[in-house]
Amino acid sequence: MADFNTQVGIVGAGPAGLMLSHLLHLHGIHSIVLEARTRQYCEERVRAGVLEHTTVAMLRAAGLGERLEREGLRHCGIDLGLHGERHRVPFVELTGKAVTVYGQQEVVKDLIARRLSDGGDLRFECGAVSLDNFIEGQPSLRVSKEGSVDTIRCDYIAGCDGAHGVSRAAFPIDSYHIYERVYPFAWLGILAEAAPSREELLYMHHSRGFALYSMRSPQITRLYLQCAPGEDLSQWPDDRIWTELETRLGCKDGWKPTIGRVLQKGVTGMHSFVMEPMQCGKLFLAGDAAHIVPPTGAKGMNLALADVYYLAEALHNHYSANNDEKLQAYSATCLQRVWNAQRFSWWMTSLLHRFENAPPFDQKKQQAELRYVMRSRAASASLAENYVGLPLE
Ligand code: FAD
Ligand code: PHB
Repeated sequence: MADFNTQVGIVGAGPAGLMLSHLLHLHGIHSIVLEARTRQYCEERVRAGVLEHTTVAMLRAAGLGERLEREGLRHCGIDLGLHGERHRVPFVELTGKAVTVYGQQEVVKDLIARRLSDGGDLRFECGAVSLDNFIEGQPSLRVSKEGSVDTIRCDYIAGCDGAHGVSRAAFPIDSYHIYERVYPFAWLGILAEAAPSREELLYMHHSRGFALYSMRSPQITRLYLQCAPGEDLSQWPDDRIWTELETRLGCKDGWKPTIGRVLQKGVTGMHSFVMEPMQCGKLFLAGDAAHIVPPTGAKGMNLALADVYYLAEALHNHYSANNDEKLQAYSATCLQRVWNAQRFSWWMTSLLHRFENAPPFDQKKQQAELRYVMRSRAASASLAENYVGLPLE
């Protein structure tokens, strides 16, 4: 058993926790990051892939742009498809901005390397077991490692421990409200050793279900199929996955995804979730700990990084000028962006997926809306503006 002191105790070394620790360090604020899993697990977990224009600017400004600039793939638009017809939404033409495809695990690798080279205190295989005294007194974290329990005393706690962490659960039962929606489908995602055969992402609505063509590098593609929430992966040998992808993604002009060795596969549920407020006393939630979006709008990691940008600014104001206005407004500030992203992610999800048992009227209406977005410059511009990311306040 040992005791440690820091200014900000951070639970979770995902994009939110690591970026917060880095931004605080740039402001001269000390933090300790506690992560339940190993460093290797955090660096290899395949998740998000699309960085908003806003996120890229934030990473660059924080001195994390070097490898991102070299290896990130700048995408100036996406394709939307309906039953084999596709239409490009030209982001740069419509908004002057682009997005960048750069895997979440690459962002995490860059952040871990940078924190360690800056002498940061990152503790892997250290799960926080409890968050104490964050409403009154001095906040502390109790942490378990190899059977012993350490105590970290801090001024503030940042709960960046994702959708299944302990921080959210530490809020007193009557201090928050949850807004959520569970969708009746999931995504079966694969990572494949296959050179991308198109330059941009393709989101396809098909009568057999939604499919998405994405990528990670000039050698690796990332593809998703709409499936049932409890889909049994053993029923999906690689051949079946590729046949289904070819059927759903194949275009009338003959384009099909290139087939390759499947390196990884998994099923992700689709969920919209917001916890309000995102703060309680001296405990602040950020990222998936506070909100989850279905992945269709590619917003989750971007939102997580926006939260910690606001939190780092607020803590900086506290320590440098004894001004707590931004800390008090933290939740309200984040939630404006969160609800914009929730609306957009829900809309993209509703527009593109197949809703089993939807009345024929609803199916026709859905297809009419998709055709409208594909043909109308005004509707495409609204999609583009949200996809590339609204400015940070
Ligand atoms: P996490 O990444 O979940 O990190 C939380 C960390 O806390 C984890 O490392 C966990 O091990 C740790 N932890 C948990 N409990 C404890 C504890 N008790 N003590 C210590 N540590 C703990 N987002 C996008 O922006 N663009 C996309 O294109 C996109 N695509 C996606 C595709 C898929 C298939 C999925 C699943 C997600 C996608 N997302 C996307 C969402 C994105 O991955 C998440 O929003 C993002 O990981 C949130 O980051 P975070 O730091 O808040 O949480
Ligand atoms: C991805 O490349 O993993 C990805 C891209 C776009 C999305 C979701 C996931 O909307």
